[in-house]
Amino acid sequence: MEKLIVRGPAVLKGEIRINGAKNSALPIIPAAILADSPITLENIPGIEDIKMQIKIIESMGARVAWIGGNSIRIDPSGIKPVTPPYELVKKLRASYYLLGVMLARFGRGKVPVPGGCDLGPRPIDQHIKGLSSLGADIRQNHGVVEMRAKLAGNKVYLDVVSVGATINIMLAAVLAPGRTVIENCAKEPEIVDLASFLNAMGGQVRGAGTDVIKIDGVKSLQGTSYSIIPDRIETGTYMLAVAATGGKVLLKNVIPKHMDPVIAKLKEVGAVVEVGEDTISVECSTKPLQSVDVKTFPYPGYPTDLQSMMTVLLTQTRGTGIITENIFEARFRHVGELKRMGADIKVEGRSAVIRGGVPLTACPIKATDLRAGAACAVAGLVAEGVTEVSGVEHIDRGYDCFEARLQSLGAEVFRIPDSQKIYAVPNRGA
Ligand code: UD1
Repeated sequence: MEKLIVRGPAVLKGEIRINGAKNSALPIIPAAILADSPITLENIPGIEDIKMQIKIIESMGARVAWIGGNSIRIDPSGIKPVTPPYELVKKLRASYYLLGVMLARFGRGKVPVPGGCDLGPRPIDQHIKGLSSLGADIRQNHGVVEMRAKLAGNKVYLDVVSVGATINIMLAAVLAPGRTVIENCAKEPEIVDLASFLNAMGGQVRGAGTDVIKIDGVKSLQGTSYSIIPDRIETGTYMLAVAATGGKVLLKNVIPKHMDPVIAKLKEVGAVVEVGEDTISVECSTKPLQSVDVKTFPYPGYPTDLQSMMTVLLTQTRGTGIITENIFEARFRHVGELKRMGADIKVEGRSAVIRGGVPLTACPIKATDLRAGAACAVAGLVAEGVTEVSGVEHIDRGYDCFEARLQSLGAEVFRIPDSQKIYAVPNRGA
C-alpha cells in the first residue's frame, strides 16, 4: 500500500498528452477474443484496470503481448470457456463484459459476480434482462453467474440508460443470428468506439451514439488493428485540476467534442478554454471564479465520473454551488475527506451544497474510489500545506503515472509506502 504526498498550493503549467480511454479499452479487450485471428490495439492505457482485464482474458487462454508504446497484440486462438478466477474478477467491475463475450463465443459460461468502485447499489438487472431477451438462460449460484444459450437477435428496451448493459448486449448480439435492436441505450463515446471496433472486425452495428442501436449478427469476426479514443474522463480531470489550482495547461490528443459538457461548465465558472482540432487549453489565472450548479446525466450530460473533481473546484469559487448526482446514489464519499480539509459542504439526498471560497488546509485523507481519489489529490494541490492521500491503489486503477504527470505540470507530488512517515518535506525550490 502506498500514499501520495502532495504539497500545496500549486499552480499547474505545461502540456500533457491524454491516454487512451479506460472505459473503451475495458470492453474492447474482451471483445477481441470474439475474433478468429489476432487483433492489434493501439492507444491502450497502462493502468491497473487494463492490466487486470488482460490477465482475465489470459486466464481463459488468450495470448497478449505489449508490442511497444501503448499497443498490444491479442491472439485469441487458444481461448477456452473456462471460468475466470474470482481473485481477478473481484478487482474489476468491467469483468462482467465476459457475460456477453462468453455467450457470443461459446453459448455458455460462468463468471463470478464482479467487484469495482463502491458507488452504492450497482445492480446488473438490465444486463440480465438484455441477455435473456437474446435467449440466454442465466442463474446465479454461490456468487457465480451461470449462463447457457442458443442466442438469436431480439428487441431489447432498457428500463435504465446503462453503459454496461448496452455494451454487454452489443457483445452478445454481434455473433447472434438475426437482428438485435437495443432501445433507450447509452450514447457514450465509448459505446461508439466499441461499435467501430466490432465493425472493424466485420460486425454489423449501426446507430451507436444514438438511443437505438441495431445489430445484424454475423457468422464470424476477423482480426484487425484498431486505435482506442482518448480518455475524456482523464481529460476532464486535468481540465478541472487546472481550474481549481490556477495556471495554464495544454491538453493534447483529445476529442474536444466529447468534452462539451465540461467545457460549458468551466466557461460558466470563468475559466478560459480554447479548443483546437485535437487540443484543449485551459487557463485560470484571474481569480475569483464563480460558483455554478451542476447535474450529472448520461452522455451528453455532465459525467458522474467528474463530479468529485467539480466538487473540489466549487470549494474554491465565489458563492454557493449545488451538485446533483443523478447516476449513482452514494457517490459523495469524497465529501467527508474534503470537509476534513475545511470545505463547507452539506450533502442532502442526491445533492451536495458547496459554499465556495473557503481555504482548504492539508491533512491526511483517503481515496475511497478511483475518481474520488483523483479529486482528493487535486484537493491536496489546492490546500495550504502537505496532504497525505492514502488508498493510491484506487487512483492507479484509472490514471497512468498520475503523480509523474502532475509533476510534469510543476506540482510537488510524491509516492511513498503507507508505513513511511514524512519527517521533512523539502521546501519549495530547495
Ligand atoms: C460505466 C462506467 C463508469 C461510469 C458509469 C456512468 C465503465 C467501465 N464504467 O459504469 O465509469 O461512472 O458508466 O457513466 O464504463 N443500473 C441499473 N441496472 C443495471 C445497470 C445499471 O439499475 O443493470 C443503474 C446503475 O445503478 C446506475 C445507472 O444505471 O445508477 C448507470 O449505470 P451504468 O451506466 O450501467 O454504469 P456502469 O456501466 O457500471
